[in-house]
Amino acid sequence: MANVRSIEELLKSFQDFMSYISWNKVPTELYQPVDYMMSLGGKRIRPLALIFVSEILEGNKQAALKAAYGLELFHNFTLVHDDIMDHADIRRTKPTVHKKFGVNEAILSGDVMLIESLSFIKEAESQIGSNYLMKLFLKTAREVCEGQSMDMAFENKQIIQMQDYLEMIRLKTAVLLACSFQMSAYIANRSELAIALYEVGICVGQAFQLEDDWLDYYSEHEDFGKVKGGDLLRGKKSGLILELLEAMDTSEKKDFLKWYPSESQNDNFMDRIHLVFIEFEVKDMLRARIEAFKQKAFTKIQTMKLSKEQSTLLTEFVNGILNRSF
Ligand code: IPE
Ligand code: IPE
Ligand code: MG
Ligand code: MG
Ligand code: MG
Repeated sequence: MANVRSIEELLKSFQDFMSYISWNKVPTELYQPVDYMMSLGGKRIRPLALIFVSEILEGNKQAALKAAYGLELFHNFTLVHDDIMDHADIRRTKPTVHKKFGVNEAILSGDVMLIESLSFIKEAESQIGSNYLMKLFLKTAREVCEGQSMDMAFENKQIIQMQDYLEMIRLKTAVLLACSFQMSAYIANRSELAIALYEVGICVGQAFQLEDDWLDYYSEHEDFGKVKGGDLLRGKKSGLILELLEAMDTSEKKDFLKWYPSESQNDNFMDRIHLVFIEFEVKDMLRARIEAFKQKAFTKIQTMKLSKEQSTLLTEFVNGILNRSF
């Protein structure tokens, strides 16, 4: 295996690539929000996953950067529209796009990000002379919409089964990370690894969304950058609430659902949540579920036809993604 660059070096190369892309275009009303969103930061885990796995499999570097940028653009598009749907005011510690520029602007700028993401995937595809990337991307993008639709529909349902919730997060979040992992197999011309990498990505993605739900209430990090407890104040059936409902018996559930989420505007709402989370050990239970998905990803990596060194690097990378505090 050729010299593998560190995550820091790869992130730097992605940032350099990003800095060459200018959104300083007209109409300003359309492109300025794109520039704002893409410059806000973010952990860049989807592009990093693609570039890193492609690096350890010795894939084409330029194609990896283009595809990675396409996926990051798509991810940011989903966040712009998600923040409208979730009525979120803050993201990455700054005002959300619709708060800063207006809802119509956020809708349209999101649309153009989606369109532009397609064109980066197409460029990556022509660079490696394969038609796998676009096919995978279109399927992924459609599934993300399906997941987001389920997420919205769940807001109006009293009881959601854990199994249905896990399917919803597989679609809204995990498939995009799985797409990052799988694209690197195509970029490195190692399509025999495509299915296994996709499955690793699904486990990591589900763990990642469960962790996002966990951090919504438990993150203490200054870079968390969203409204603390935002999911709960919105009455979402997030992983924490589902874990709670799993632990309650029928009458406890009934009592809880008398005030969740209908009393979310009351002063003592968060205090009540706090107490009930402690009583039913929700914090540790959701952590254990995250850990189980992580272990599933590790086990999957063990079954892959990789060198010892590649396998160790991939395991460390997955561990890094899931050991975050914001
Ligand atoms: C937030 O994604 C939305 C989810 C799918 C959980 P990230 O946590 O990757 O957001 P950024 O890009 O780092 O801000
Ligand atoms: C976002 O899920 C998933 C998509 C954008 C498809 P969340 O609504 O949990 O993401 P955050 O917490 O706002 O980042
Ligand atoms: Mg949402
Ligand atoms: Mg949201
Ligand atoms: Mg969230």
